[in-house]
Amino acid sequence: MLGVCTPAGGGPMTPMLQVADLVVEYAARSGPFGRGRATGVRAVDRVSFEIEPGRTLGLVGESGSGKTSVARAILGIAPVSDGRIMIQGRDVTRVTGALLRAKRRTAQMVFQQPTTSLDPRRTVATSISEPLVHLLHMRGRQLEARVMELLELVGLEPEHARRLPRELSGGQRQRVAIARAIATSPSLVVCDEPTSSLDVSVQAQIINLLVWLQSELGISYLFISHDLGTVRQIADTIAVMHLGGIVEAGSVEQVLDAPRHEYTKALIAAVPSIDRIGARRGTTNAIAP
Ligand SMILES: Nc1ncnc2c1ncn2[C@@H]1O[C@H](COP(=O)(O)OP(=O)(O)OP(=O)(O)O)[C@@H](O)[C@H]1O
Ligand SMILES: [Mg+2]
Repeated sequence: MLGVCTPAGGGPMTPMLQVADLVVEYAARSGPFGRGRATGVRAVDRVSFEIEPGRTLGLVGESGSGKTSVARAILGIAPVSDGRIMIQGRDVTRVTGALLRAKRRTAQMVFQQPTTSLDPRRTVATSISEPLVHLLHMRGRQLEARVMELLELVGLEPEHARRLPRELSGGQRQRVAIARAIATSPSLVVCDEPTSSLDVSVQAQIINLLVWLQSELGISYLFISHDLGTVRQIADTIAVMHLGGIVEAGSVEQVLDAPRHEYTKALIAAVPSIDRIGARRGTTNAIAP
């Protein structure tokens, strides 16, 4: 588990997110047609970590190691069998009703494929409005003004408001998904491979946008990726997942430059050239979106 946050002034500060001994199990059925007796699949096995306010934790690991299951459990869309999820010191593991709505205002998610989070029949404006209407009860001019402000924040033009997702490029669609995710001014945004479906130049633009939004709005990110180069650019700390558990965690430099666990070493060795992993955050070319 990563250390308790300590502000420059002294005493301990409440982490933005604390995940303690999280277990996620899916009910699976035996037999090829799923008619056999149910047997649980343990996708996440006692995972613990923390994210400080305004900071980014990179969660890395091979396919199937449980990264998305952790993300979905935090957002309440995967079954939590055991453990606790605390946001700003409040236990939100199994909240319902008004507390669930409050959690949704505070914690949002950006998915790998913007097509899965955006309704193909809804315009950009309608998609971005949805959390504002349902979670903040915005209407009329206030709603319109906030949608336009969000479009500008993510580097889109006012004319994009009337478009359907299919009338946008992949990068523009992901910008809409980010605008929707930050609409309610959340403190935590979980990004699950947000650039994996994009080509390299667009990936860099989206990473720069996320970094810039963090500096402007103070958001904490849980940033999931199997691309160590991207994680080095955006993350402050890294946790490495393997077979449902965290095998190593620490600062980006500790984990990527001086890995202790054999699995982390193997992940780094699988990257074609360490030189291509790129520079640390702050040394990328353009930060503004
Ligand atoms: N809804 C589900 N029902 C049953 N099993 C699931 C479900 N979702 C995921 N799993 C299983 O849980 C394990 C972890 O999956 P998960 O999607 O969390 O991995 P991941 O690290 O995000 O992988 P990837 O890098 O490919 O996205 C896998 O064995 C997967 O088959
Ligand atoms: Mg995944």
